[in-house]
Amino acid sequence: MKCPNTVPYRGNINCSRREDLLNQKSMVLWFTGLSGSGKSTIAHAVEERLHQLGRLTYVFDGDNVRQGLCSDLSFSPEGRAENLRRISEMVKLFLDAGIICLTAFISPLQADRDRCKSLINCAKFFEVYVKCPLEVCEQRDVKGLYKLARQGKIKNYTGISAPYEEPDSPDLILETHNCSLDECVDQVVNFVLNAQDSPGSGNQGQPAEL
Ligand code: ADX
Repeated sequence: MKCPNTVPYRGNINCSRREDLLNQKSMVLWFTGLSGSGKSTIAHAVEERLHQLGRLTYVFDGDNVRQGLCSDLSFSPEGRAENLRRISEMVKLFLDAGIICLTAFISPLQADRDRCKSLINCAKFFEVYVKCPLEVCEQRDVKGLYKLARQGKIKNYTGISAPYEEPDSPDLILETHNCSLDECVDQVVNFVLNAQDSPGSGNQGQPAEL
């Protein structure tokens, strides 16, 4: 939905020029998976490694974003869709800024994830499936929320009383019940560095029009 009677301003400093300045290509790694699968842990550990390699990054984290920008939204299907729409718009701005974005949202529905990808609309979007059986996530129960969901104290809890749809064709799969954190981080960092070196992710990967 576009706001009527507005005319976008196009500055001279565009995404390519910012990327040249930063000596990197912006991209987004969209981590999806159950609560407790390890999305945030991996995203932040990847950020640490990329930071040490001199790359400018930013992690968008579900629990954090829902404390501010999206604090008015519920976990109903509509609330989740709007949560992810706002994040996608935010990611678009960060991509235009030349930044390597890492997002950690359950983003449980394929249709919502597809919408995010087409909103961002560029070859810079990579879906990372953080795969872990529900039983293992529930066993970890880092935040104690699975227990509350089982007791019926939290409604619409993903995996318990709300669906999680596995990605159709993720760009990367991380099996956190089989691999160590270091192994997962290696996989992601190698993926990012390969994408940075690939000539294909040049101009064709410019962010969608803001
Ligand atoms: S999403 O479905 O809209 O992508 P998001 O990633 O922002 O979810 O938030 C998930 C986090 O919110 C979980 O890790 C958990 O800490 C918390 N949470 C609170 N209520 C729920 C719920 N009903 N379902 C899933 N996560 C919930």
